[in-house]
Amino acid sequence: MDLLQRRILLLPATRWTRSYPDTMTEPPVVVIFAHPSPRRSRVNRPLAEALAALPHVEVRELYRLYVDYDIDVVAEQRLLSTAETLVLQFPVRWYSVPALLKLWLDDVLESGWAFGPGGTALRGKSMLAVVSTGGHADAYGPEGTHGHPIADFLLPLEQTALLCGMTWLPPVVLHDADNADSDAVALHIEHVARHLPALPLPPETQQWTDAELGGEDAP
Ligand SMILES: Cc1cc2nc3c(=O)[nH]c(=O)nc-3n(C[C@H](O)[C@H](O)[C@H](O)COP(=O)(O)O)c2cc1C
Repeated sequence: MDLLQRRILLLPATRWTRSYPDTMTEPPVVVIFAHPSPRRSRVNRPLAEALAALPHVEVRELYRLYVDYDIDVVAEQRLLSTAETLVLQFPVRWYSVPALLKLWLDDVLESGWAFGPGGTALRGKSMLAVVSTGGHADAYGPEGTHGHPIADFLLPLEQTALLCGMTWLPPVVLHDADNADSDAVALHIEHVARHLPALPLPPETQQWTDAELGGEDAP
């Protein structure tokens, strides 16, 4: 457990759990976190750590779990079956998802399980994309460098959710992520927590120092 998680766990647990009955053991929110180089992450690594510290949220860090790209489909499907909300958290890579997240989607969302005849396992659940981009917000527009709104690049995920009978929630996007300072990261974490259905907000906004955020020299 690192410094960020320790800090969050020190916060009063009752204020984080009041939306859930004490008997609930399964995580209603599963976060599939895909970052190819998390030690250089300013935004997604602290966000994933903050989410992992929330009760009833399970974070699956794909690049740590599956270094060999050999995804345990049964385990992933079993976990998803218990969840109400599937969060896909990733930095945008070449206008798309990181490679291991694409493989996860290919392998886990099987025909007959997620879609197609008998494929009802995800029906009624929700999908939330939580993404960061290096590009500025104004670069994601018709006049901008990238020519399209970020929603256009997320369309394959949206349609995947719909094909599986899921509700596509409005994505949470942090643009210009490479220049995010500690305040911006803290705000982003608060924003994401606010979007998690039925999860109470953290009692106070967390503050990270620049030294705690990722970068070239991160451990
Ligand atoms: C190989 C590669 C491809 C990238 N492709 C894009 C892209 O298509 N659009 C964009 O806005 N940013 C792109 N970026 C920038 C990342 O999205 C950005 O560094 C990341 O969201 C920052 O989050 P982090 O601090 O968690 O790493 C790319 C970065 C790398 C290394």
